Amino acid sequence: MLDFGCGHGTDVRLLMEQGVNIAGYDAFHKEYDRRPSGSFDLVTLNFVVNVLPREYRDQCLKDAWKCVCKGGTLFVSARPMKDVLRYSSSWDSYEDGWLTSAKTFQTGYSQDALGLYLMDQLGADEVHTGTRPTFVYGWLKKT
Ligand SMILES: C[S@@+](CC[C@H](N)C(=O)[O-])C[C@H]1O[C@@H](n2cnc3c(N)ncnc32)[C@H](O)[C@@H]1O
Repeated sequence: MLDFGCGHGTDVRLLMEQGVNIAGYDAFHKEYDRRPSGSFDLVTLNFVVNVLPREYRDQCLKDAWKCVCKGGTLFVSARPMKDVLRYSSSWDSYEDGWLTSAKTFQTGYSQDALGLYLMDQLGADEVHTGTRPTFVYGWLKKT
């Protein structure tokens, strides 16, 4: 599997320790900034789409999708909008989100909004979605 946008690689290391065959890629972290070649049966994109403004978000999602092999799965998680709204009153609006006091972009998704976003961007007919207390998720298979 590939953890796309893996940050410092915390999940990569944890899963590796559990025996999972996993690679990490992150465009902005030197240790992981070389995108592995080939395609993967599982690609995760965790807490990435909610920190990127639209022009970068859409491209990043499509790049992650390209790494999924035929029959493989893309799993996307994002910060819930209701969580973001608890903090956003002091932030400046920007596109479909906000610029935080640290001048980083932040938005959030409802379960339905994330599902629609994935369907729209990836041209998928079916996306499975769910909600957990700290994240919403959507996953789909490449046919
Ligand atoms: C909020 S962090 C999430 C890190 C990790 N996935 C996690 O769940 O802890 C978002 C990450 O996405 C990475 N990122 C942003 N744009 C990217 C892109 N186009 N390609 C790959 N990684 C990207 C950033 O460098 C950052 O490490």
